[in-house]
Amino acid sequence: MKDQRIVIVGFMGCGKTTVAKALAALLGCGLVDLDAIVSAQQNLSVPELIKERGESGFRDAETAALQVVLDRQTPRIIALGGGAWTIERNRDLINQHGCLSVFLDAPYDLCWQRITTHPAPRPLALDEASAQELYRERHRFYALANIRVGVTDQLSADNLAARIAEAIARRATPPH
Ligand code: S3P
Repeated sequence: MKDQRIVIVGFMGCGKTTVAKALAALLGCGLVDLDAIVSAQQNLSVPELIKERGESGFRDAETAALQVVLDRQTPRIIALGGGAWTIERNRDLINQHGCLSVFLDAPYDLCWQRITTHPAPRPLALDEASAQELYRERHRFYALANIRVGVTDQLSADNLAARIAEAIARRATPPH
């Protein structure tokens, strides 16, 4: 249990990368960001990849990167891109590798506010109506994660990391 890998999932703007960093600091373990691996492997940024190869080309590269990350035993924490967990083949890979999945459940308005204020381009959330529809469609897949942690604007990344660590500890020692 101590070394079980933890996969952080959730919609764009829910705070996956930031919370994953805080969790890695709290647990004293390593962290990898799947988008960064995809980008390094393909020698293109994620937005460039989507532009050049379309979403399906990006998804193929994303699954290939996920496979490589999971086949290596380290690091312990893996922050996914927002769409990765919504694809069945990726969830199967993650579950087959015995990872614990954590859903950062942020309200849509908070995600959208962060998407529009963050400098990183999100080619799959170009306008509010389509982003909201995507959020609605994806929620049922995120809800398949092992652990759900509610995100609000008031909760810091350290606070959320502490909640995740508590939830993991509770799972490891179920009540008698
Ligand atoms: C995507 C989310 C992005 C990135 C790509 C596609 C999505 O990652 O993987 O633009 O489909 O939700 P973040 O969730 O880190 O923004």
